[in-house]
Order: sequence, then C-alpha cells, then structure tokens
Amino acid sequence: MSTVNSEKLSSARFSEATDEFVEIFTASVDFDQRMAQEDIEGSLAHARMLHKIGILTQQELEDIITGLNQISQEIRNGEFNWSIKQEDVHMNIEARLTDLIGTAGKKLHTGRSRNDQVATDIRLYLRKEIDLIKQQLTRLQSALLDLAEQEASTVMPGFTHLQVAQPVTFGHHLMAWFEMLKRDRERLDDCLKRINIMPLGAAALAGTSYPIDRFMTAELLGFSRPSANSLDSVSDRDFAIEFTAAASLIMMHLSRFSEELVLWSSAQFDFIDMPDAFCTGSSIMPQKKNPDVPELVRGKSGRVTGHLISLLMLMKSQPLAYNKDNQEDKEPLFDTVDTLLNCLRAFADMMPHIKTKKDTMRQAARKGFATATDLADYLVRKGMPFRDAHEVVGQAVKLGLDSNRDLADLTLTELKQFSDLIEQDVFDILTLEGSVAARKHIGGTAPETVRAAIKTARAELVSDE
Ligand code: ARG
Repeated sequence: MSTVNSEKLSSARFSEATDEFVEIFTASVDFDQRMAQEDIEGSLAHARMLHKIGILTQQELEDIITGLNQISQEIRNGEFNWSIKQEDVHMNIEARLTDLIGTAGKKLHTGRSRNDQVATDIRLYLRKEIDLIKQQLTRLQSALLDLAEQEASTVMPGFTHLQVAQPVTFGHHLMAWFEMLKRDRERLDDCLKRINIMPLGAAALAGTSYPIDRFMTAELLGFSRPSANSLDSVSDRDFAIEFTAAASLIMMHLSRFSEELVLWSSAQFDFIDMPDAFCTGSSIMPQKKNPDVPELVRGKSGRVTGHLISLLMLMKSQPLAYNKDNQEDKEPLFDTVDTLLNCLRAFADMMPHIKTKKDTMRQAARKGFATATDLADYLVRKGMPFRDAHEVVGQAVKLGLDSNRDLADLTLTELKQFSDLIEQDVFDILTLEGSVAARKHIGGTAPETVRAAIKTARAELVSDE
C-alpha cells in the first residue's frame, strides 16, 4: 500500500506534496473505518453492476470479489494496515484491493465517486444500527410490560408539579413510559423509510455517463429504490439528522425515566429498590448506594442532543452539492448510536431487577389527600355543581391537615358539617382502591384497564418485530 505523499490521491494535478499537518487534519480514516464492511458491501454491488453492463470482465469481477472478501477478513481479524496517507476508509480499501489484484482493482471506481460512496455507506451503516437499537428497545419495552403486569393494581401517588395529585396504579405509570418508547420506535421506523434510499450512481454530483443500472445495485443492497436527484443524493444528510432527532427524543425519555428512578430510590421517596449490580457505593460514605446507571443515562441525554445540534449546524447554509464539511457528520452520528445503544441496554438489563416497595407507595398516596378529587366527583354525582364541590372538599382537606389525618380518616359527622349530601357510602370512594378502580375508561388507571392496555401492547410489540 502506498505510504508516501507523492502517491497521494490526484497526485498528477499537484506539483507539491500535501502539508503533513493538513494530511492529518483532513483524514477521516481513524473514525470512518467503522463503515468498512458497509463500504465493501457497496463495492461488491457496484462491481456486479459494472460487470452486468459490460465494464468489467468476468475475471475482473471475480478478482474484485476475491480481493474484497480478503480485505473484509483482514479488517475483521484486525490485520488491516490503515493508513492516514490514504485519507479515508474508501481510499484505504481501494488501495489495498489494487495491491492485491492489480489493474482490476483500479477499475472498481468506474462510474462512482467517494461522494455517492460515502452517502451509501452511512445509510447502510445506519440501517444496520437501527435494527440493533430496535432490538434493545424491544427488550426494554417487554421488561416494562412484565413489570407493569406485576404492578397493575399497586397503588401509588400520581403527581403533578411533583406534588401528590391523585392515586394511580404503578402499572399505569409504567405503561406511560411504554407509550413514549412506542412512539420512539415508530419514529425510527419512519426515518428508516428515508434512510433506505440509494445514493449510489449519483457519482460526484451529476451522475455518470456510463449506462449504469441503479435499480440493480439498489436491489443488491436492499434499498427500496435509487434516489431521484444526484445533487441531493451526495449532499443530503437530513436522514442522519432525523435519526439523531429520534435518538435525542429517546434519550430525553430515558432521562425522565432516570430522574424518576433516582427520586424513587432515595430515602425520601423509598418507592423502589434498585438492584445492587446497577448501583455503586461511595468512597467515603459507607451507607451510600448511588443510582449511577440512571444518573449517567440522564447525563448522556445532553450529549446526544448536542450531536443533533452539531449535525443541524453542520448542514446549515451548505451550498449544493457535496462539501468536505460533511465529513464531520460521522463522529456525532457514531457517538449517538453508541450512546443510545448502551443506554437502552443498561435500562433493559436493569428493569427486571427493580423491586417495588408497595407499602411506602401506598402510604405516600394516603398522605397526600390523593382522593380529594374523588370526593368532589362524589358530591357532583349527588347534584352539587363542581365549583361548590371543589370548595367543600377544600374545607375537608383543611380539617385533615389541621388534625393530621387523611380524608378517609375523618368521621362521617365531621364530613357532614361541610355538606349534607355526604353519606356513609363516601368511604367507598375515599379509599385508594375505589379511586383507581373508578377510572376504567380507555387510557385510565384502573387495574382492569391497565391489564387490557398491557395485553394490546404485547400483541403490538410482537407483530412489530
Ligand atoms: N471522507 C469523505 C467524507 O467523509 C469522503 C468523501 C470525500 N469526497 C471528496 N470529494 N473529498 O465525506
């Protein structure tokens, strides 16, 4: 493989060697070698197509296939000698191919450019990674369904403004997280539709004068179709931005999820017990058990959103068609993929080991006058206008606060002083179980509704895979 400056790409046009620092500064091989297998896959399809249209002989095609397969093995075995002199993954592989098979290797680049090549590689790479991301998402979603099923009738306080609002079931709360992840999954599927379009054939920017068969390469590579405009094909990176936006939303959801786990595992809430294997101790305070995993995931969400902004700014104001700026798309994209995969994996691994502390959850719901709205609804059902009922319940809550008791602990006589409409049956609705059971419409928190929602979700998840 060439390792001297004078053998650099396009050398004939240049009378001076590239500045040594510029060579390092402009190279991308350190990071884009990650797309090596996709690059080879794209080249194999391109070579088959060139053979079909008569540009490569049978022998040349066979040599290219053998050479590329060998390179693929060398890379897998860690034996490939990556060189900065060859700038990027594409040039490194092509140079090695020519070393291995001679002239046929030099013919591979007929009718294509690194511009359509790199755009194709990123799409192939992202398509594969999204499959892996979806697998982790599925693991997390099914772990959530399992826990939700187990906790379908566990009562906890529901919050607004982080103040106790109304009782909910823990299963219902878990299903809220499930719904977020379900939309996240839909967004990934939707962005896959636009990722799966093939730029190859756009060449540098204007297409090529060879009679290429783009439908053939698209089919060989599993793309749904060739792209419709060559200028757009080599410069478009909005598929990557879209993916990073979808990833940012997933990370934002995981950060909310993390925040709740951190709060709930604190001594102040004490709603859950986090598995030891996902926590660490403190080097100085022996009593500490820190929820490191959710904290780290919460922190990493900022990093992915940062990548989204980087990519948006990278594309902003770029004139058509390809610009070297685009080389900067890879690191944010790769880090987004890694971060997202790791965070989803950590959550999916952790979820089945979370232990619920039902008693503290229940006590917390009792303490916060969580059934106040139920009392108001009760009065409304007995004919009182809602605003008046709101006022009556306010008085009852005040009495509870003054005497340090929940609404269900007040006596009938005490309650009656606020309204004659209150009878013995009020105690049915002042219980936490009565409150949650009453909310049995679609989307409500009643255990039976939650169980039905889990059943539907499970069926959808299976059919999605
Ligand atoms: N390394 C380049 C990138 O990542 C490949 C395309 C280079 N094309 C070019 N005309 N310099 O975008």
